[in-house]
Amino acid sequence: MHAELAALAAELRARAELLDDRDWSALTLPSPASGRGDEPSSSPPLPPAGEGGVRVPEELARLAAEVEACRKCPLGATRLKPAFGVGSPTAQVMFVGEGPGYEEDRQGEPFVGKAGQLLDKILASVGLSRQAVYIANVVKCHPMVDASQPDKRGNDRPPTPDEMAACRGYLEAQIRLIRPKVLVALGSTAAKCLLATEDGVGRLRGRWHDFAGTPLLVTYHPAALLRDETYKRPVWEDMKTLMRTLEAG
Ligand code: URA
Repeated sequence: MHAELAALAAELRARAELLDDRDWSALTLPSPASGRGDEPSSSPPLPPAGEGGVRVPEELARLAAEVEACRKCPLGATRLKPAFGVGSPTAQVMFVGEGPGYEEDRQGEPFVGKAGQLLDKILASVGLSRQAVYIANVVKCHPMVDASQPDKRGNDRPPTPDEMAACRGYLEAQIRLIRPKVLVALGSTAAKCLLATEDGVGRLRGRWHDFAGTPLLVTYHPAALLRDETYKRPVWEDMKTLMRTLEAG
């Protein structure tokens, strides 16, 4: 029993350290456009959001209502609330995660659990917020290991290829409407979906990719940082790359 308590205390200490704001804010942003040559070069400039008379907030709301009624895959029948997306319809940067978990299923918003709280801190460390960016997932409904137990914690799993394919049109529509300047794939499921690759984050991060003309960065999922602190530094490097590009205009 003592050993269990000691292990729990050690884990809590490690997590508190990882989530410590000072850890992130102690790291300073580089000056804009540092000329390291890692800005995306091949993509043409993107037109502003809402071009062509499309009313983006209204279209997003219409799409969210479609997702609410969606039964294209079995997840729609077992989830509590779809987590469609959150943030600014004119965001310059759009983050894409894997899929809702326990908390997201209850609140109907992406990244509101522990991983989401860490994502908020990562955003804040580079002067961003969930209101200023847009955050969505590859699938909008909670993939569960045991769908008969939606109240069970730790019942999350990655979406299957069929579930990802069923939901893909919604993500593509979100990207088309928001027209972000940059996409960030959080973790390998999002990278797999957006880049049609089997490569892991370690091979994909640190360089620019392209999703239908939009520059895309891949970085580690915040949940991976909660499990392994060594991912913190590469994520910080990726956020610096993102900010250099945003600041370069
Ligand atoms: N993990 C994700 O990938 N998305 C969420 O919304 C929450 C956790």
